Amino acid sequence: MPKQPATDLCGLFVRPNEVLKYQGSNLSFMGQNLASLAKTHGTPIYVYSKKRISQKIEKIKNAFQNNIGIHFAMKSNHNPKILQHIRSRGLGIDVVSGGEINRALECGFKPDQIIFSGVGKSQDEINLGVRKGIFLFNVESPQELERIGQIAGRQNKNVSLSFRINPDVNAQTHPYVTTGFRENKFGMDKSFIPELLRILKRYRKLKLMGLDFHIGSQLTDLKPFEDAVKKSIPLFTSLKNLGHAMTYFNTGGGIGISYKNEKTIDIDRYATQIQKLLKPLNCKILCEPGRFLVGDAGVLLTKVEYLKKTPHRNFIIANTGMHHLLRPALYDSYHHILPIKKSTRTTIVADVVGPICESSDWLAKKIKIPLPQMGDVLAICDVGAYGFVMANEYNLHPKPKEIVI
Ligand code: LLP
Repeated sequence: MPKQPATDLCGLFVRPNEVLKYQGSNLSFMGQNLASLAKTHGTPIYVYSKKRISQKIEKIKNAFQNNIGIHFAMKSNHNPKILQHIRSRGLGIDVVSGGEINRALECGFKPDQIIFSGVGKSQDEINLGVRKGIFLFNVESPQELERIGQIAGRQNKNVSLSFRINPDVNAQTHPYVTTGFRENKFGMDKSFIPELLRILKRYRKLKLMGLDFHIGSQLTDLKPFEDAVKKSIPLFTSLKNLGHAMTYFNTGGGIGISYKNEKTIDIDRYATQIQKLLKPLNCKILCEPGRFLVGDAGVLLTKVEYLKKTPHRNFIIANTGMHHLLRPALYDSYHHILPIKKSTRTTIVADVVGPICESSDWLAKKIKIPLPQMGDVLAICDVGAYGFVMANEYNLHPKPKEIVI
């Protein structure tokens, strides 16, 4: 059972953390007054904090005493200023499309900092990656390996590879973001190995350099990571014994954050366990975190358009919704919502919904919140990962703005 969060005077729970707190009656986000940002820039708007991202980067670096190659998963946030900031902290990047390769290069990442993941890499995307000379392709199927081999041959370029393994573990997270179970489309079962090795033999330009997995997202327990590492070690060793230059072991992304005061993975323990298990391999450890680095470094500010009280339910109708933040509609996920001005008005129980013509257009259900008025601004918390990147223009609403502080 998650522990009950602390409540403030309004009956709302406030996260006692360094990111969001009331200073006087104003909600501040990493020390910045959100009311003045909303006034200057308008709503709806995603606000990101570079300082928070730096703190999270330091947490991983310190936990591993810098002995880790961190490749930020761009799919979680592709804002150019965020990417430039992450690059300036010395991180590499993990991409999943040609579009993301181009965005990485535009933001100053060098080709040898780019890992290319993804289950459906097209001919054009592989051509681009090979031409640019990226660091590693995470291979997801024998046919993809064959395709990379042909392209490497045509371009006469050496290409470094990692095999993405499906370790068949239960990540104990939402089924839509579980990726390392045997019934998922991701990664490769160990029974694929003989075929992969036969293909490798035919393409001189290909060099197998490591193994990787990504078992799922928003993991709150360390055990699935440990299981996945343990299951992959024998394969790593046997590939090395066959003479492959096995150098990298990539544990993917997936480290969860606390959306509702739930317990999360302790990064120091994560680092200690992974390093302990991998020590005998004498390899370089890589990882591809997204949410852990940027998740709580973003808030979405929205204005209350209407308050609609039906005999059955109170609806706070906001100027943002599932088109700007899809996570609640898609995964039933929880995002904490706070008024940016502390209020002494009576607390009501309400659903926060958007303007989209669908009943799945909700941001929060049955939350306690001080009775809002038209024009009040609310902050939707922890939207730095998989927020704006999944936004769309459904109903021809424009996408929200973004600013980086
Ligand atoms: N590496 C690979 C190969 C991935 O597929 C992913 C995420 C990551 C790294 C980064 O995972 P993270 O550290 O962020 O958990 N839209 C969903 C999440 C989808 C994750 C997809 N893959 C959500 O909003 O929860």
